[in-house]
Amino acid sequence: MEIDRKSYHLSINMAMTMDGKVTRPNGKWYGLSSQNDKFQMDFIRSQAEVLIIGKNSIINDNPITQIRYVKNSVNPIPIILIRTGVIPNDRNIFKNIDDKKPLVFCLENNSENIKNELTNLVDIYCLKELNPITVLKKIINLGYYKILLEGGPQLNYSFLKENLVHKIHLTIVPFLIGKKDLPTIVDGNENFLNFDTKQWNLVSCKSQENEVFLEFENKIQTQLSSS
Ligand SMILES: NC(=O)c1ccc[n+]([C@@H]2O[C@H](COP(=O)([O-])OP(=O)(O)OC[C@H]3O[C@@H](n4cnc5c(N)ncnc54)[C@H](OP(=O)(O)O)[C@@H]3O)[C@@H](O)[C@H]2O)c1
Repeated sequence: MEIDRKSYHLSINMAMTMDGKVTRPNGKWYGLSSQNDKFQMDFIRSQAEVLIIGKNSIINDNPITQIRYVKNSVNPIPIILIRTGVIPNDRNIFKNIDDKKPLVFCLENNSENIKNELTNLVDIYCLKELNPITVLKKIINLGYYKILLEGGPQLNYSFLKENLVHKIHLTIVPFLIGKKDLPTIVDGNENFLNFDTKQWNLVSCKSQENEVFLEFENKIQTQLSSS
């Protein structure tokens, strides 16, 4: 399945510890990012029209998706991808919804469950498949171009595996967790093909207080988008 690389722009934003972990040993991230990182996250959000967030991230971390620290910005619309089960309706993502409800992309066999749990809180779209290309095509079809993916690692993996990501924003926070087998920014079963062919360009590197903010651009994606 193909997609026109010029028809969208997709960025990932993640924060990791000095030893590359993106969750605490209890599977949650809370409290490891500073106020500067929260501002940076909101700034990146303010440049997106839609925000894809993984189901497990919503269940475990219960993030607030409204922009709080960048004045006069428009909230991107959250999109949740659910293949199985549901998300409890008490999550923050369903609170203080202004004019635009979050969107749920799901499969036919699970749509009734989702309607029952999330009626009036979300707009539901049933797709034939929930692979990254089908999802991107649906987002483009709804009229959105600037897409931000905020993890988690499984969702990042599925989009990166198809080489669909233009940019990665990465914050390094000053902690070492030490425990093996905690997820990193990308959590998949197989390595990416040709991962050692220098596909990513470092385009920005800033430090602020005790953290580093990095921005990498995907060379191949950039070339395909401008050709
Ligand atoms: N440090 C950071 O910046 C950061 C950012 C975000 C999250 N996190 C951490 O990441 C943890 C969760 O990450 P995670 O990797 O377990 O889960 P995730 O990426 O948040 O969600 C993955 C789930 O989404 C559903 N899904 C639907 N379509 C998918 C697709 N095409 N590809 C992959 N998944 C799809 C799957 O559930 P179904 O098949 O059941 O529908 C899958 O289990 C959180 O607990 C949070 O602490 C950290």
